[in-house]
Amino acid sequence: MRATSVAVANYKALVRNVAMRLSGKLCVITGASSGIGRAIALRFAREGADLLLTARRDDALRAVVEQAQQLSEQSRVLSLCADLRQPAAIERLVECAHQNWEAVDVLVNNAGIGYFTPTAEVELERIEELWQVNVRAPILLTKMVLPRMLQRRQGTLLFVASLAGKYGVKGGSVYAATKFALRGFADSLFQEVRSYGIRVVVLCPGSTATAFSGPTASGTSRSGILQPDDIAEIALAAVLLPVTATVSEVELRPTNPS
Ligand SMILES: NC(=O)c1ccc[n+]([C@@H]2O[C@H](COP(=O)([O-])OP(=O)(O)OC[C@H]3O[C@@H](n4cnc5c(N)ncnc54)[C@H](OP(=O)(O)O)[C@@H]3O)[C@@H](O)[C@H]2O)c1
Repeated sequence: MRATSVAVANYKALVRNVAMRLSGKLCVITGASSGIGRAIALRFAREGADLLLTARRDDALRAVVEQAQQLSEQSRVLSLCADLRQPAAIERLVECAHQNWEAVDVLVNNAGIGYFTPTAEVELERIEELWQVNVRAPILLTKMVLPRMLQRRQGTLLFVASLAGKYGVKGGSVYAATKFALRGFADSLFQEVRSYGIRVVVLCPGSTATAFSGPTASGTSRSGILQPDDIAEIALAAVLLPVTATVSEVELRPTNPS
């Protein structure tokens, strides 16, 4: 073989090795049909992860599955539509994970909804929906994947909270309450499971350019607001750390908001 072909072969092997850091790891990602969840799914796919993706919108979810599969032919990528307001749907999701894989390696509790209105005007149904999607669903999902993680003494549980779960937001009291609750759950959970080698990671992003933040955010300049890919990078960094180290909580802000 000529020197140049050897160099190319070595380079390709190097790229393959670097690019497959999540090879053989099952990552379950909620809210994968758009925004931050989609970005995490595609970033993890580029590292060769196996993926079980979920959300309600079938078409959007299928498109993400297709893109993920193109990024990593070796990955096994499945999707399951689920409305996380329904405990039975959460159970089906976990069954699907355990039927197709031995256990979940990384659970990304990302799905969430926002609702911003003065407290005196907030409707009961909205309060319940926010609680169900933002708090109850991640708790249930975690509870259901945990026994196998404890058995294997490994796993990473990642929660997408928010800066609104740390500092409160005028006009977003109920949303902020759900994210404070999520952090309280995650913090307590970490104390419970760390002796089993299980990591609990909480990401607290500021405004990020997704459908969640509305059209204004997506129109804001790249430097002025976080992008879903920024959150995906930190999620990946947290997962790729040696298992003996845990990024327990991260606050993310745009460097120079405009
Ligand atoms: N964007 C921000 O400014 C920002 C800042 C801090 C934290 N966050 C958090 O980041 C997370 C992701 O939000 P995003 O910004 O990426 O917004 P997004 O693009 O609207 O994504 C939300 C995801 O949650 C899913 N979802 C909503 N309700 C659901 C339900 N009942 N059952 C199942 N899936 C459901 C949606 O999928 P379907 O509609 O297909 O079901 C979608 O995939 C949320 O937890 C949010 O609180 C966002």
